[in-house]
Amino acid sequence: QISEAEVALFSVSSYACQRRTTLDNHNSNLTDALSLLAENAELNNEDGRGVAFRRAAALMKALPTQVISMSQLRGLPCLGEHSLRVIKDVLENGVSSEVESTKQSKRYKALKILTGIFGVGAKTADRWIREGIYNLEQLRDSGQTLNRAQKSGLEHYDDLNEPVTKAEADAIGEIVQKAVDSVLTGSQVALTGGFRRGKLTGHDVDFLITHPEEGKEVGLMPKVVAWLESQGFLLYQKTTRNSYLESKDGPARPASNMDRFERCFSIFKLTKGKEQESTQPEEQNDLKTKDVLRPHMQADTDQQLCELSKNYQMEAASHKIWRAVRVDLVVSPISQFAFAVLGWTGSKLFERELRRWAGHEKNMSLSSHALFDNTQLCFHPVS
Ligand code: GTP
Ligand code: MN
Ligand code: MN
Repeated sequence: QISEAEVALFSVSSYACQRRTTLDNHNSNLTDALSLLAENAELNNEDGRGVAFRRAAALMKALPTQVISMSQLRGLPCLGEHSLRVIKDVLENGVSSEVESTKQSKRYKALKILTGIFGVGAKTADRWIREGIYNLEQLRDSGQTLNRAQKSGLEHYDDLNEPVTKAEADAIGEIVQKAVDSVLTGSQVALTGGFRRGKLTGHDVDFLITHPEEGKEVGLMPKVVAWLESQGFLLYQKTTRNSYLESKDGPARPASNMDRFERCFSIFKLTKGKEQESTQPEEQNDLKTKDVLRPHMQADTDQQLCELSKNYQMEAASHKIWRAVRVDLVVSPISQFAFAVLGWTGSKLFERELRRWAGHEKNMSLSSHALFDNTQLCFHPVS
């Protein structure tokens, strides 16, 4: 039983960036429900609704104890009518009916599967669904034209949907460090994204690259990518160039949330090291094809042969000595490095909230490039 006095203890800032963050979530039943609805909204290109559910989920995660009654939520920010309805449903019935029906819906399942392909966003997935494509098999059969990213994404679908571990992130970090050392000595690599926040797994690995001498970083990305390519580390890469300084009037006030750093979306071919290997004994990693194929000799019916062939494919997959991992590389000049690290550390909601707070409470504009004081006539970056 929670007393009224305890209820009053929940005093939480409406800005997520002003809250102490924790890995301890006392309300995962509620945050799971709200996060799923946020994800569903995002998958349906309803960004406003997505943010509202993300804010509500983040707020529930920030509470110091488990919520068991609606009365505990009185006066809390970030909880809209819809989120409150979902929370009430979970508290009273154990589950939210809206969440359950979403999870079961054909459209949600298809959106999840299709956007699970690297290079496929909500818009493409929606178009495919309208053409009757709900899964990978139907996509393959449909003869849809796929772009280079999507082809790679489909090819490495299973690998890319398997969470990346911190050990794998560190292994890739060493490769990236070696790459920048080889092309420009003194370059620095920082691990950003979820791993910098202490997450144990991620959907990709994010790196920010710079050089302590301003200007030296110009032209660095193509060289790093060429080195990685020459060493066979890249299964896919697409580099987009810096556009921050492109406007004729010099660095203008950033217009959107997207930054303008030179950036490389890539898929790494990561050789499995000792720490990633399965717990099988050493000699089994040397398994030769003929050892796995041998049982085929004894197969005397088609069905048995089919079984054995399936086993062989599974064996082969489990003995694959490398795996595909999504990696984001970003190059920043040293003068913008601090803002870039902040902007690339995430989470997405934290960054959004930090910018909202800067704008509304401090009359400043924050981006991954700089912090501007809006009261100054010309936009001098704040140092
Ligand atoms: P997982 O990768 O799923 O573990 O989570 P994550 O937090 O690392 O997410 P993600 O890799 O998508 O993004 C990491 C950070 O980079 C987030 O804070 C994003 O806001 C930021 N980010 C990603 N893409 C862009 C971009 O194009 N521009 C800017 N400015 N930031 C970006
Ligand atoms: Mn990431
Ligand atoms: Mn990323």
